[in-house]
Amino acid sequence: MNYARFLTATSAARKPSPIRIWTEILSRAPKSVISLATGSPNPNTFPFKTAVITTKQGNTIQFDEEVMKRALQYSPSAGIPELLSWLKQLQVKLHNPPTIHYPSSQGQMDICVTSGSQEGLCKVFEMIINRGDNILLNEPAYSGTLQALLPLGCNIINVPSDGCGIIPDSLKEVLSRWKPEDSKNPQKNTPKCLYTVPNGNNPTGNSLTSDRKKEIYELARKYDFLIIEDDPYYFLQFNKPWTPSFLSMDVDGRVIRADSFSKILSSGLRIGFITGPKPLVERIVLHTQVSTLQTSTFTQLLVAQLLHQWGEEGFLAHVDRVIDFYRNQKDAILAAADKWLSGLAEWHVPTAGMFLWIKVKGIYDVKKMIEEKAIKKEIFFISGSDFYIDSSTPSPYLRASFSLASPEQMDTAFQRLAQLIKESL
Ligand SMILES: Cc1ncc(COP(=O)(O)O)c(C=O)c1O
Repeated sequence: MNYARFLTATSAARKPSPIRIWTEILSRAPKSVISLATGSPNPNTFPFKTAVITTKQGNTIQFDEEVMKRALQYSPSAGIPELLSWLKQLQVKLHNPPTIHYPSSQGQMDICVTSGSQEGLCKVFEMIINRGDNILLNEPAYSGTLQALLPLGCNIINVPSDGCGIIPDSLKEVLSRWKPEDSKNPQKNTPKCLYTVPNGNNPTGNSLTSDRKKEIYELARKYDFLIIEDDPYYFLQFNKPWTPSFLSMDVDGRVIRADSFSKILSSGLRIGFITGPKPLVERIVLHTQVSTLQTSTFTQLLVAQLLHQWGEEGFLAHVDRVIDFYRNQKDAILAAADKWLSGLAEWHVPTAGMFLWIKVKGIYDVKKMIEEKAIKKEIFFISGSDFYIDSSTPSPYLRASFSLASPEQMDTAFQRLAQLIKESL
């Protein structure tokens, strides 16, 4: 892989921040070292002393005075070592990336912690996308991604998808306007990357099958583009075995994977992580060195201590409990949809995530109905057009989330929605 060809001028120009390097050295230095080097504030002046956090299982995570001082201090930009090592082991267990033992320059797997996966994705986009670059994604798409991409002035090419995600033949057709060797010629502007949410896609709830992923990966090799695998719903797959990730197939080091703890540990702690080839992860860390400096040390320590207490087995047992919750919620929303919306709307059964993507029959664009009338009936949904590159695109779809409402509330919501559809027809 020639990683240099993917970088924007801004990203390529990034150099390590000298004071951040010192933070890193200091974090590994023995206690005997006398440091007058960094500008770290003296934690003895901070108002917080200790913390005890109780988990729902009744265990405690204790920050004594020493740990608290560390929690309140600057830390390395890539993440604290004990969290990084835990995450690395997890990725090896779950994805066994072929790149794990590659030489660094040839795309060895690397990881960095980010303040939620969104922050990591935003930095990935800034790293590789120039104005006018061609980018592939499947519409409808997560609006957080669209709103990050659109200001960058790239040309977003929609790749048709269905209930099983991106259709490889359609991708082939999109790519057929180029020849594989065009990727060597910058003038040809071949697509730099394909972005997709492979499990429980937001908003459609659709998941890519393993066979499709293999075909898409082969096309990425042929036309030499990167794959950005945004997978916050990976841990919310309802059926086992979980579908193999793009990362698990990545023999070239061309996959940048965004993981999130938002849906399984906490969305407010803001912990996500990027896994990808070292030469690219290094660029993201250089960006962090001059933006957020690091993800909060306090939340990293809290999560690291929890994960070390649980071990991999305990973590996956927790994930299974979360999946059970969302599976029941999914069954409840489907039952409510069957009861009230049959004949009025259509939907696919999601196999992961927290969204039901509903197509209202006989209404060309549901925007007004959702954004004006539904609110009056005290039911909130997101209208489909919000997930399109051109948000003025009329859409008969709406997104219903089954994460927060109780089964009874979902039943009432769909009863009201059914009435609203009938009034709007
Ligand atoms: C597809 C997708 N990507 C990224 C994110 C951002 O997640 P995080 O909380 O990890 O930043 C979300 C959040 O809903 C999402 O749905």
